[in-house]
Amino acid sequence: MELLRFDRVEELDLPRLMEVYRESNTDNISYFFPEETDPERGRRAVEARFCDYLRTGFFAAPGNRYYVLSDGGRWASAIRLLPVPDRPGAWYAEALETAPDLRRRGYGRKMLELVFAALAREGPFEVTDTVSKQNAASLAFHRSLGFEVFQDPAVSALNGSVNPRSFGLRYRYGGRDNGGAEAFCPERLSARYEVRRLTEADIPSVLTLCEGNPLYYRHCPPPPSPETLRADMAALPPRKTLADKYYLGFFETGELAAVLDLITGFPKPEIAFWGFFMLQAGLQGRGVGTALVSELCAALTEQGFRAVRLGWVRGNPQAEHFWKKNGFLETGVSYDGGGYTVVVAQRELT
Ligand SMILES: CC(C)(COP(=O)(O)OP(=O)(O)OC[C@H]1O[C@@H](n2cnc3c(N)ncnc32)[C@H](O)[C@@H]1OP(=O)(O)O)[C@@H](O)C(=O)NCCC(=O)NCCS
Repeated sequence: MELLRFDRVEELDLPRLMEVYRESNTDNISYFFPEETDPERGRRAVEARFCDYLRTGFFAAPGNRYYVLSDGGRWASAIRLLPVPDRPGAWYAEALETAPDLRRRGYGRKMLELVFAALAREGPFEVTDTVSKQNAASLAFHRSLGFEVFQDPAVSALNGSVNPRSFGLRYRYGGRDNGGAEAFCPERLSARYEVRRLTEADIPSVLTLCEGNPLYYRHCPPPPSPETLRADMAALPPRKTLADKYYLGFFETGELAAVLDLITGFPKPEIAFWGFFMLQAGLQGRGVGTALVSELCAALTEQGFRAVRLGWVRGNPQAEHFWKKNGFLETGVSYDGGGYTVVVAQRELT
């Protein structure tokens, strides 16, 4: 499956796109062409109107983009995003749709997860969407992805128009006020380091830090590359969304000292899950890692978490020794990480 992004109408395969919207286009005949009696002719007229809007309206405005999820060449789902004027990182969504015969198969979810991962690489963002109060499927869909109802009635972020029959839904990623984990403030995790979410622009420094730790990758292949790091920045455990994910950098005098991939509320609301933790090689062997783990555990306790859970690769002596020394106890659970065994351990926070 592949996420396609279109910034210009010339790049779009309009007939393929119209297949995604076949049902809504048919539904719209009576609205746009109430006199039309022939369904086929009516749908064509709606399609022509739709394509005309894309050429002269949507793509004529700077910054607007279309995203499409393609599966083996078939276009399954699509969505339009329009930047909200004067609010960098804020997007207004339109025309979310999955082709009728492909609904309820995870295409819509996959597309939005990939869209969110793409936007996250550009920095903090928020996406608002307007959903009819009658559209139970769409409301359930949005909620399952981490959207919250933030307006009743919906108010358009673009022109301020009020729609009493719709809710305004919002998904937020990054920034101080994170929708997914209300109380969690990553910037308060450390007094010593400057803590912030890492983005695409940080990949070169993360790569340098990772490449300094060849032992880790011997136990947990493949070796790091920009592609594996990009995937790590978007990787999620089951049922979690990007709003719960904090791929964090710890900086000292502007230099990256450590990386932590933290998922809030996994596998239970009161648990913080650490998917990855790595200290710059030059800082190792001097108690810096242990001091940082203590500081993190104290800060997480203060922010309401009751435990930290993580995994190490069985047979990696450095990892096992470090985590045991830092109060992590094996839970007895282990799983196959794809060529190696991951031992699950937990530290209770008091
Ligand atoms: C809303 C829409 C885009 C969802 O796309 P989709 O590809 O069918 O959705 P997915 O299969 O990825 O579903 C993801 C989750 O959304 C929820 N969901 C999707 N369709 C649902 C339905 N009919 N009823 C209840 N929940 C639904 C579920 O939680 C689902 O996860 P699950 O199947 O594991 O339970 C699709 O129903 C659609 O195109 N509807 C017509 C156009 C529309 O209403 N657009 C939204 C305008 S705001």
